[in-house]
Amino acid sequence: MLSAPRTVDVLRAAGEPSRLRILALLAQEELAVLEICKVLDQSQPRVSRHLRLLAEAGLVERFPDGAWVFYRPSGRSEARTLADQVLAALDPSDAALARDAERLEAVRTERRAAADQYFARNASTWDEIRSLHVAEDRVEAAILRAAGPGPFGRLVDLGTGSGRMLTLFGDRARSGIGLDLSQQMLNVARARVEAAGLDSVELRHGDIFATRLPDGCADLVVVHQVLHYLGDPAAAVREASRLTGPGGRLVLIDFAPHALEMLREQHQHRRLGFSAAEMKRWLSAAGLRQVELETLPPARAEGLTVCVWTAQRSPA
Ligand SMILES: C[S@@+](CC[C@H](N)C(=O)[O-])C[C@H]1O[C@@H](n2cnc3c(N)ncnc32)[C@H](O)[C@@H]1O
Repeated sequence: MLSAPRTVDVLRAAGEPSRLRILALLAQEELAVLEICKVLDQSQPRVSRHLRLLAEAGLVERFPDGAWVFYRPSGRSEARTLADQVLAALDPSDAALARDAERLEAVRTERRAAADQYFARNASTWDEIRSLHVAEDRVEAAILRAAGPGPFGRLVDLGTGSGRMLTLFGDRARSGIGLDLSQQMLNVARARVEAAGLDSVELRHGDIFATRLPDGCADLVVVHQVLHYLGDPAAAVREASRLTGPGGRLVLIDFAPHALEMLREQHQHRRLGFSAAEMKRWLSAAGLRQVELETLPPARAEGLTVCVWTAQRSPA
């Protein structure tokens, strides 16, 4: 239970128009400070002040990521429950909230378009770019270890890109689905899967946030080097978990936290890696148990560490 003074603090923090708008925005997606400024159409010092007050009241959590600072709703607490009740009572057709939702959609569209152009431009050379940080054979050996010996009934590869994960598992999976948002990437994947003679692999155009695949349809789900491009990686982990059937495994491969800002400018990365604690929290919130985390340090001093997270859904 919240004490009366604490309740007043929380309501005071939420009880200001811009701060209420910020809470409503963050309930949809974690956002960088500059993105919040864009949506609210307010200066950075002003937005930062609102965010500081919300953080002090325990309603939002700040997390630096390289030179950027992101905010998201704080973890479960009574203060957060109270703020959620306030948000639930809001009329979504309220003019200011509806305008913010439109502007947030514009920010997302801009982000997606930049990423899509990047992948369209780099589809044919993606395999070279992918191996820049840790030697591909080391990463792939770790992925095979994480997945276990198989054979697998159905493999789902989310953000399949050039389809390498599909051919890596090859006929160890009875059937496979590779899903990607970029048609150019899917064209490369299609050629690769055909060349490998994998008749039971299907390539689908789709969004990782709404795959339209049934619950528990796969006994192996792989998300290889995709999460750091996404606006809402936690939602992608939730969707990947939803597809993981009883006793099945989800293997997530991405970078450990790093400071290579140029990957944002030149390669459309949004997040500069993920911490072990963050991923563990997302997996357990999605109903999976993390069974292993293997970290692969880079060969060069300035390189990036690749992490392979393995999670499992309990057998039925
Ligand atoms: C860095 S590539 C990785 C491809 C592949 N997993 C690999 O490691 O070679 C990231 C892929 O994620 C795809 N992608 C980005 N956002 C996506 C989304 N919202 N839904 C589905 N795919 C997405 C991109 O089109 C791209 O092909």
